[in-house]
Amino acid sequence: MPNQSGRIVYLNGDFLPESEARLSIFDRGFLFGDGIYEVTAVLDGKLVDSALHMARLERSAREIDVPLPVPVSEIVEIERRLVEDNNLAEGVVYLQLTRGAEDRNFLFSAELKPTLLLFTQAKTLENVPAAEKGVSVKTVPDQRWARRDIKSVCLLPQVMAKRLAKAEGCDEAWMIEDGLVTEGASSTAYIVTEDGRIITRGNSHSTLPGCTRLAVLELAREQGLTLEERAFSLEEALNAREACLTSASNFVVPITRIDGKQVGDGTLGPVVKRLRELYLENARRTAV
Ligand code: PDD
Repeated sequence: MPNQSGRIVYLNGDFLPESEARLSIFDRGFLFGDGIYEVTAVLDGKLVDSALHMARLERSAREIDVPLPVPVSEIVEIERRLVEDNNLAEGVVYLQLTRGAEDRNFLFSAELKPTLLLFTQAKTLENVPAAEKGVSVKTVPDQRWARRDIKSVCLLPQVMAKRLAKAEGCDEAWMIEDGLVTEGASSTAYIVTEDGRIITRGNSHSTLPGCTRLAVLELAREQGLTLEERAFSLEEALNAREACLTSASNFVVPITRIDGKQVGDGTLGPVVKRLRELYLENARRTAV
């Protein structure tokens, strides 16, 4: 594990030790949550699904009307350099883009310079017990805003949801709206029906368009697996044969308990196992 306390981070054009990185107290990311972020996995020292994350970054930035201070091709180079400088074999690169810093005012000036921060974080992604054992989720009401497709740094509802889940010994929260599962607090939600159909919500303003989801669905399609992009209810999930979550920081992980009830036979099922294998193989092959 690299020494993360001495890690090199990127802030507004500079690569510097984390202890020397300084941000204004007037940064709108801090005062208003006026910013967006991305999390990209690193496997074998390479960036996973990089193009998908850069496309979503551009989209989020456009949606909140914050210009990217450097083109995405350069952002990928910054990420690669951070991975190298920090000797990171496995983990994530975190990126945050905020509108910038000036005196507090809901409105902002046209010439405001955005803040761009990137750092690495070591994390075991591949050989985790959860990949075999599965994780448990607790359902909570979805209390977020109406533009969840934007990867906003305003994560208070998710922080609270995960805290509730943890208090009941669960690993993730599944958020429910109108009786339907929207997504996990920091992951996309899936079930597999008795007859082997993989079900996950279609993209809309109601959920974050997961990059891992996009990659997994394409692989599943190539393999001729049956997919249904639609919302599913908690009741359907409780009757599912398998369930799983996907995210850049977990890849594909089986869900074996929902609100204390066993999913299927409570063990890793064949469809989720296959999805994880397919995903890992593709992640390695296409990492940059
Ligand atoms: N979260 N839905 C939500 C609400 C998320 O926060 C995430 C990712 C996902 C999965 O997206 P992706 O496959 O692109 O990682 C779905 C990241 C990992 C985080 O906040 O740390």
